[in-house]
Amino acid sequence: MTKNKSLFSEKKQNPLNSLEDWDEDVLKRYPDPASIASEKTQDEFRNYEAPARDSVRDFYDLNHKFQTYEFAKEKKENYLKFDNKEMPIWESFDFLNELVDDSDPDTDLDQMQHLLQTSEAIRNDGHPDWMVLVGLIHDMGKVLCLFGEPQWAVVGDTFPLGCAFSDKIIYSEFFKNNPDSQNEKYQTKYGIYEPNCGLNKVQMSWGHDEYIYQMMKDYIPEPGLYMLRYHSFYAQHRENAYDHLLNSHDLEMFKWVRLFNPYDLYSKNPNQKSWEELKPYYQELVNKYLPKTLKF
Ligand SMILES: [Fe+2]
Ligand SMILES: [Fe+2]
Repeated sequence: MTKNKSLFSEKKQNPLNSLEDWDEDVLKRYPDPASIASEKTQDEFRNYEAPARDSVRDFYDLNHKFQTYEFAKEKKENYLKFDNKEMPIWESFDFLNELVDDSDPDTDLDQMQHLLQTSEAIRNDGHPDWMVLVGLIHDMGKVLCLFGEPQWAVVGDTFPLGCAFSDKIIYSEFFKNNPDSQNEKYQTKYGIYEPNCGLNKVQMSWGHDEYIYQMMKDYIPEPGLYMLRYHSFYAQHRENAYDHLLNSHDLEMFKWVRLFNPYDLYSKNPNQKSWEELKPYYQELVNKYLPKTLKF
């Protein structure tokens, strides 16, 4: 299924020890929950010099090289048919948990724990129930790894394709190896887009965000869909690097994306209630919004 797989050894293709290495690196980049609401200056961003682990660097080397406009288009055509698997949502959590990485059992949570901690933190703050559901499912798209996709096509910051890469994207220097960098029509500020055309018209790099958004788009209120679709678009929701592509509706909806982000990054809770205790609430929540089975 993975086009580039044969070109690499397994480790070269998947440099992260676990998918959480990426999440943890984002946390290092944005360590302070209080900074979310304030405008960060370009200088402060540039002063970020904490060296990421080599595995994260290697990961972005691949991600920025291979995430081209054509690649994202192909993946959408393939995966948005949703003809890989059909299962009840609870089974899909078990499926997702097959991604558990046991090389670092003390620090790494399994996928389900991260989802529950996110959703419980949202619930404890009294947000609407659909936002709790968004917390519960926002990383479900990581099952793409179990369909044979390499890490760089599943996780990592997402960014627009078909226009110039912003230097506010992490490790933007690696885009020099992306074939789209040689394509003139993609290398102007607006590229193939009209000014403020709206993100719905913009092809984003492919990963777990777009996949889960497309899976959920008939079931969840629009602000929740923005959270799902753009939660890894740090260059926008943290750095405002693509204001020139957003329309006024996107700008409004990104308030919700920003509201969601701290729950994703900062909700680790060592005293999480057990799944057994939480199950009745979540079963009701899932029944309220989602169909009996999900198509992957
Ligand atoms: Fe995510
Ligand atoms: Fe997450």
